Amino acid sequence: MKLLITGGAGFIGSHVVRLFVTRYPNYQIYNLDKLTYAGNLENLSDIESKDNYTFLKGDITDAAYLEEIFANYKFDSVIHLAAESHVDRSITDPLAFVQTNVIGTVNLLHTAKKHWADDLEKHLFYHISTDEVYGSLGEDGLFTEETPYDPRSPYSASKASSDHFVRAWYHTYGLPIKISNCSNNYGPNHFPEKLIPLAINNIKNERPVPVYGKGENVRDWLYVLDHARAIDVIFHEGKVGDTYNIGGINEWKNLDLIELLCDVMDEKLGRLKGHSRTLITFVKDRAGHDLRYAIDSSKLVNELGWKPSVTFEEGLSKTVDWYLQNTEWLEHVTSGNYQHYYQEQYERR
Ligand code: NAD
Ligand code: DAU
Repeated sequence: MKLLITGGAGFIGSHVVRLFVTRYPNYQIYNLDKLTYAGNLENLSDIESKDNYTFLKGDITDAAYLEEIFANYKFDSVIHLAAESHVDRSITDPLAFVQTNVIGTVNLLHTAKKHWADDLEKHLFYHISTDEVYGSLGEDGLFTEETPYDPRSPYSASKASSDHFVRAWYHTYGLPIKISNCSNNYGPNHFPEKLIPLAINNIKNERPVPVYGKGENVRDWLYVLDHARAIDVIFHEGKVGDTYNIGGINEWKNLDLIELLCDVMDEKLGRLKGHSRTLITFVKDRAGHDLRYAIDSSKLVNELGWKPSVTFEEGLSKTVDWYLQNTEWLEHVTSGNYQHYYQEQYERR
């Protein structure tokens, strides 16, 4: 198995790459990543010298580059995670999201279909997507695989578009595909512009913790390793052409979550209970802020036997410990030093 994983230097991608490299020593894993601000090879420093791992620095919007690597490496399958992933950035720079998430995905589909044309059914294009494509829920209800698409931010619109293109290649050309739509992930290696790692970093440094609006928006949080495990199960046992929702059955209002995080950190840092809650600062709301996401993952649970392996309390505690222990990673990310890692590790060899 020659498996191309795109976006493997990012948050979720790095956990997926590590899981596949260590669990499947007979697979050759190729990690294609542009190393945008969100790509950090330090996430993979523990496995980068494994014989079954190769890093390819490249851009999925570059069709000629994709042509070259598909010809050279003859990948059997693709797990596609590369994307612009931060909603706030999509509001200020939507074109970057169209380029990578839409055009980049279409480039990959086009190139894979061309190179796999002789024996399409032996291959698989597995696209990693988000619950945000379904829009925003009211107080009740859950997103199922049948929920109509209703994306509302440039990010979710670009991901919805990419999902439609993936299905178009399945129906029109017979490309074997799978899609999964997951809820909010948290855990080690999460870039500190997203809520949980940003809050951990600010609480640690006694800086204000920004809560958008009144903090009433609800997200369904899943530990990143449980997402990686779900991707493994769907890749190997999911039905071709199908979609699987992945979620934690773990809904939290933002304010309740941040208060819990403050309390967990007060305990771990030996601060007085209640101290870190004083850092909570309400700020201007996100434009078009989706009220609530919540996933029904019963198809994945019932058909493929997956379920989350950690409770939220365990996952959050492990995550805080990871950030408190990995101060060098955090310092490199916040100072920008991680962007020199590629030159040091690869270009000077
Ligand atoms: P991330 O932003 O941490 O990582 C994205 C990776 O893609 C980075 O390594 C980046 O360098 C790479 N990349 C970006 N543009 C590229 C390009 N043009 N060519 C090649 N590589 C490029 O993202 P993440 O949070 O790990 O999300 C990974 C995937 O999972 C995305 O497709 C996202 O939509 C999806 N997803 C994320 C979440 C979440 O909670 N983070 C939940 C559900 C689905
Ligand atoms: O639902 C899956 C999605 O989850 C993924 O597809 C996205 O890639 C991922 O970024 C995430 O999107 P969110 O917008 O839900 O995540 P974020 O961490 O940016 O925000 C979580 C919630 O917290 C959201 O309601 C906005 C709020 N928020 C966020 C930040 C960064 C704050 O209140 N303060 C903040 O500083």
